[in-house]
Amino acid sequence: MIGRLNHVAIAVTDLAASTALYRDTLGARVSQPLPQPEHGVTVVFVELPNTKIELLEPMGAESPIAKFLERNSDGGIHHICYEVDDILAARDRLKAQGARVLGSGEPRIGAHGKPVLFLHPKDFCGTLVELEQA
Ligand code: CO
Repeated sequence: MIGRLNHVAIAVTDLAASTALYRDTLGARVSQPLPQPEHGVTVVFVELPNTKIELLEPMGAESPIAKFLERNSDGGIHHICYEVDDILAARDRLKAQGARVLGSGEPRIGAHGKPVLFLHPKDFCGTLVELEQA
């Protein structure tokens, strides 16, 4: 059911320093910072040949990644995103198998303008999973 790895999201406390690390130390192609107030983060996209890394810096105290960074002060992998062809079919299949979908269970428009859902980390090996309709 799941397809390509769309991105790995890494929460960071200092977006400029993390961007420099990926650009200068690791030699990757990085985007400009993109504020996404509706998601409570500022994002830098790291473009790799086969996938993307998204560096997420919290925007405001209500940011969904603020608590994560309280527990992980060095930053860390926050979620991984897999592509699916049909997000509603994927959701219904997962719910039928007992997996927990976060929030209302209805897809929201994610950072790339496509419908996304998040799955409970306790149901997926301790990893927050995002599904994005390809
Ligand atoms: Co994501």
